[in-house]
Amino acid sequence: MFSKHVIRGQQFVSKLTRAQSTITRPVPATTSQQVFDREAKYGAHNYGPLPVAITRTKGVHVWDIDNKRYYDFLSAYGAVNQGHCHPKIINALKDQLDIMALTSRAFYTDVLGEYEEYITKMFGYDKVLPMNTGVEGGETACKLARRWGYDVKKVPANKAKIIFANDNFWGRTLAAVSSSTDPSCYERFGPYMPGFELIPYNDLAALEKACQDPNVVAFMVEPIQGEAGVVVPHEGYLQGVRDICTRQNVLWIADEVQTGLARTGKMLCVDHENVRPDLVILGKALSGGVYPVSAILADDEVMMTIKPGEHGSTYGGNPLACRVAITALEVLVEEDLANKADKLGVILREELSKLNKDIVSVVRGKGLMNAIVIKDTSDYNAWKVCLKLRDNGLLAKPTHDHIIRFTPPLTMTEEQMRECTDIIKNTIMSFQ
Ligand SMILES: Cc1ncc(COP(=O)(O)O)c(C=O)c1O
Repeated sequence: MFSKHVIRGQQFVSKLTRAQSTITRPVPATTSQQVFDREAKYGAHNYGPLPVAITRTKGVHVWDIDNKRYYDFLSAYGAVNQGHCHPKIINALKDQLDIMALTSRAFYTDVLGEYEEYITKMFGYDKVLPMNTGVEGGETACKLARRWGYDVKKVPANKAKIIFANDNFWGRTLAAVSSSTDPSCYERFGPYMPGFELIPYNDLAALEKACQDPNVVAFMVEPIQGEAGVVVPHEGYLQGVRDICTRQNVLWIADEVQTGLARTGKMLCVDHENVRPDLVILGKALSGGVYPVSAILADDEVMMTIKPGEHGSTYGGNPLACRVAITALEVLVEEDLANKADKLGVILREELSKLNKDIVSVVRGKGLMNAIVIKDTSDYNAWKVCLKLRDNGLLAKPTHDHIIRFTPPLTMTEEQMRECTDIIKNTIMSFQ
């Protein structure tokens, strides 16, 4: 055992020496196949991308290495609400880059407070805690809820419980997969985080029952489940969640990483029922798709339970992120993207509902967060439909084997949307 380790170490040293002396920057790929092969050879196989090699993006379009143009109907899993490379957001990024990019939170900067004031006033919360990715937002919300549970609700030490809904998705960290009901997310990654419990989604009776346990500190839920396949709960569910959490002294954490920031036709998805969660997690489009920026919004009773040195991130709240986030939020408002998403979503679902029901069994969604359910046969499935859509100039990706999510940029014109619905209709018709 020991000698094997020594040999491995020696091999590593010899590889390193060679690397330092002879390896030069790789030659850029010139064909799609070269792009696919290089990623397959040198990258971990933790994604199964649709075979298309994108080299350029602008607005609602992306272009591949052969300069073929596509409509982007995924928008980086809903991160590009403002359209690819929005000029105002890119300029904000470039301008800030010329001045200051990263200092860490060891020091004050003149940008962080400006962002904090802007985002808290915009969403009506006392405080914001800045992080980078969506999953860090979820982790932070869970930490805040546990701390509030011990300090304010007076839950006995290490007994706090957080409730999640079946089929939730909030990322890939060990905490996130510990709350997952999807075996491909959690299997063989245990042991799992204790203190997490699951109830069915869209089930208020189950929530009421679970919250009767005095050690429950929070219920974390997506207002529409994105990765699960754009599952929309019944009208009144969000109001019901609010009422139960208030009654039972449990924090409601709304994971708006995918649903938030105008995607569903309102600034936040919870606005559809005019309800206010105790914590809101934002990510993805908070940077307009140019930089990882996430945020947790909460009032002082929750946020002030965490003291200096108890949570943080080297990049969280950096000047570049703050400047980009301010501008990304401004663009949502200036271009009235929530209303646009609402109107275009109606057109999209109207056209999708005309598709052959023998192939497309369900159409669902809100605003521009939509999905179709494809009946799985030997002739077609969601993957085959996505390949055909690609050939016809529109990029979408299956979520699970039989669901295709449609989340285009919100900056699309009605004319472009009608061109896209024609592409989808012609593609589905070609399977008849
Ligand atoms: C609802 C929701 N929460 C959290 C996340 C995690 O975000 P990230 O991939 O930026 O960590 C996702 C990602 O798809 C998501 O859809």
